[in-house]
Amino acid sequence: MKTAVITGAAQGIGRQTAKLLDSLGWSLALIDLQSVATQQYKNALALTGDITDEKFVAEAAAKTMKKFGRVDALVNNAGISNISSALDTTTEKYRQVLEVNLVAPFMLGKEFGKIMLDAGSGAIVNVASVAGLQGVADRSAYNASKHGLVGLTRTLAVEWGARGVRVNAVCPGWVKTEMDHKDQAGGSYTDQDITDHVPMARFARPDDIAEAIAWLCDDTKSGFVNGVALPIDGGWTTDGSWQSLRLRQR
Ligand SMILES: NC(=O)c1ccc[n+]([C@@H]2O[C@H](COP(=O)([O-])OP(=O)(O)OC[C@H]3O[C@@H](n4cnc5c(N)ncnc54)[C@H](O)[C@@H]3O)[C@@H](O)[C@H]2O)c1
Repeated sequence: MKTAVITGAAQGIGRQTAKLLDSLGWSLALIDLQSVATQQYKNALALTGDITDEKFVAEAAAKTMKKFGRVDALVNNAGISNISSALDTTTEKYRQVLEVNLVAPFMLGKEFGKIMLDAGSGAIVNVASVAGLQGVADRSAYNASKHGLVGLTRTLAVEWGARGVRVNAVCPGWVKTEMDHKDQAGGSYTDQDITDHVPMARFARPDDIAEAIAWLCDDTKSGFVNGVALPIDGGWTTDGSWQSLRLRQR
């Protein structure tokens, strides 16, 4: 049975990805700061801890190998957002966002990547963002972390592709999850700000993202896809229209 490791699996996109991969027959190692309820899955191991802690990451890899004996995919999904102007963002906060969103995926990528490289096959999917492809004001730490994650994706793809490990990123637009609820509670944007901007006129659903992640994890479906940063954004990043022109199409 193929085994996938998913970080940030307790809620949102990570939980949806776990549900989908479970239904497709994968075993799951589910990592989160919060405890993950595993009884809903057929064959799952919960690993509770902080992905910025290198020791925890090494232990998580050892426990995953002890239980399942193999790793076929790593989904670097856990992330934190931070909405504040660059001038209001402390260096400490900037570093914290980079630690979770960029340094941790590097450590997890190395730890689980080694296992997949030894086996000669596997896939890593990094959950970046449209914020990894474009500038969005008031998100200097978050956007830098996601641009960095896209850079890490491309670099590992060229280092590891010939050894059977594909590395790709998904770049979601705005998704209705706890992260969005929290960000909106801070008053920085509304649902309509987002839906007016998206050519498909809606938020992403967690399942839109999970389906793309599952496809990228599966060698039989995306076996020659390596190093892409795939927008899943309803057309957000492709649209150069001005607002009134976009809204006239509705
Ligand atoms: N929601 C969106 O609009 C959106 C858009 C683009 C990209 N993303 C990205 O998708 C990913 C998932 O987002 P989401 O909306 O499901 O978020 P979420 O906040 O709902 O869930 C994130 C999960 O990650 C866990 N987590 C956070 N820090 C951790 C740490 N240090 N160690 C272990 N676990 C940790 C949290 O406990 C939580 O369960 C993130 O990387 C996010 O940046 C989200």
